[in-house]
Amino acid sequence: MSEVVGSVKEAPLSDATRARFAREVAKYPPEQAQSAVMACLSIVQQERGWVSPESELAIADYLGMPPMAVHEVTTFYNMYNQQPVGRFKLNVCTNAPCMFAGGPQALQHLCEKLGVEPYGTTADGMFTVQPCECLGACGDAPVMLVNDRNMCSFMSDDKLDQLVDGLRNAED
Ligand code: FES
Repeated sequence: MSEVVGSVKEAPLSDATRARFAREVAKYPPEQAQSAVMACLSIVQQERGWVSPESELAIADYLGMPPMAVHEVTTFYNMYNQQPVGRFKLNVCTNAPCMFAGGPQALQHLCEKLGVEPYGTTADGMFTVQPCECLGACGDAPVMLVNDRNMCSFMSDDKLDQLVDGLRNAED
């Protein structure tokens, strides 16, 4: 498991990051190190905010798997950020049940309030707004997820305004 060299633009994996990877890999049989790929991607995203192509290469090298196989995981799960995002990532579900219960309107309202297009980030780097797939809470539509962790239900325009203003005030 050698360090990635060549066209890497980011800092290579730190010793601390590699130690975290090792703890994840140790959960699997030695020949199954690749099973830790999702955990390693999550660690990189937690530390760097997103998963860059260079990070994918570094993970592939560490786990001894093809870079394309890592990229397939990154692109399959939309919680992995493939580009830098704002301090708060707001994912609005636009799948069918939410689509019929205000999801697209919620997305549009957020974009208009923050002055961004879908997948856009505000100029101050505070918010990224993007549509997403079903979040598994269809009965609470329209549904939104903040920073991949906090689920918000029944997101009317008023509730969206309160949430965004609250997050902004909390940062100030
Ligand atoms: Fe939106 Fe399922 S369709 S949570």
